[in-house]
Amino acid sequence: MIYLNGKFMPIEEACIPVLDRGFIFGDGIYEVIPAYSRKPFRLAKHLDRLQHSLDGIRLQNPFSNAEWKNLLEQVIAKNDGEDQYLYLHITRGVAKRDHAFPVNVPPTIFIMSNPLLPPPAELLVSGASAITAIDNRWIRCDVKAISLLPNVLLRQLAVDVHAIETILIRDGFLTEGAASNIFVVKDKVLLAPPKSHLMLPGITYDVILELAAANKIAHEIREISETEIRKADEILLTSSTKEIMPITLLDNNSVGNGKPGAMFTQLHALYQQYKATHMRGNASGDTEDL
Ligand code: PDD
Repeated sequence: MIYLNGKFMPIEEACIPVLDRGFIFGDGIYEVIPAYSRKPFRLAKHLDRLQHSLDGIRLQNPFSNAEWKNLLEQVIAKNDGEDQYLYLHITRGVAKRDHAFPVNVPPTIFIMSNPLLPPPAELLVSGASAITAIDNRWIRCDVKAISLLPNVLLRQLAVDVHAIETILIRDGFLTEGAASNIFVVKDKVLLAPPKSHLMLPGITYDVILELAAANKIAHEIREISETEIRKADEILLTSSTKEIMPITLLDNNSVGNGKPGAMFTQLHALYQQYKATHMRGNASGDTEDL
């Protein structure tokens, strides 16, 4: 069951007009929100980022945070599975094709849910492979825009060689993955690229840095050069749907000793504990400010 413009319906019955600006221009933004034990994870943070994306494309937020929470909970309740991920999508609505914003046109609002499966156990044990590519996206990557053509093309480069992700490099420095954030480990220090308009401020990225700080794991937030990526002891990938994963092969070369490392093992365990806290109902970032 999905939500579309005020109504719940089976996804097969959901239709949008061809003049929707999401279809014509990719003129919209989205969020992906995991729900564990049917409870949205870090909801307040996802709704903050939704607001940031809406501000970035000058679209008014159609709902208050309390209204979003209510709507998302209804979608979760109408779908199977304890763990789900919610996909929330807002476009600038339906109007005659013209680049200029239409006046007095309601946005199109769509929410769907899919089962949220943990990453395959074998990838957590043996690690996954990734490739690198030049980051050729626009320079507002902090906006979670539905116009994802560059990300789609970059991600496909990885799929073509049976890798799981494309790690992006802009002007010699790490930005993020085509659909994930990337951390590097060197000499037991966790390195994270600083948030900027060149990367999506990942919700999982924040959780990892909070866990590092709370557990006295040495970490630095700073620019990471391409050479540092290639000489890393460990590379870690994070996203709402993949949680945290070890990258053990980069452009066909082993990362460190070619096995998931101690930093991955520790952060993965801490992330699972944090999820358990969330399911018990007292994790930070879940519903604060709602
Ligand atoms: N993608 N960077 C990009 C470009 C992303 O698309 C994503 C997530 C992330 C990680 O952000 P978060 O930890 O908040 O999921 C970073 C989602 C999962 C997607 O598009 O499906």
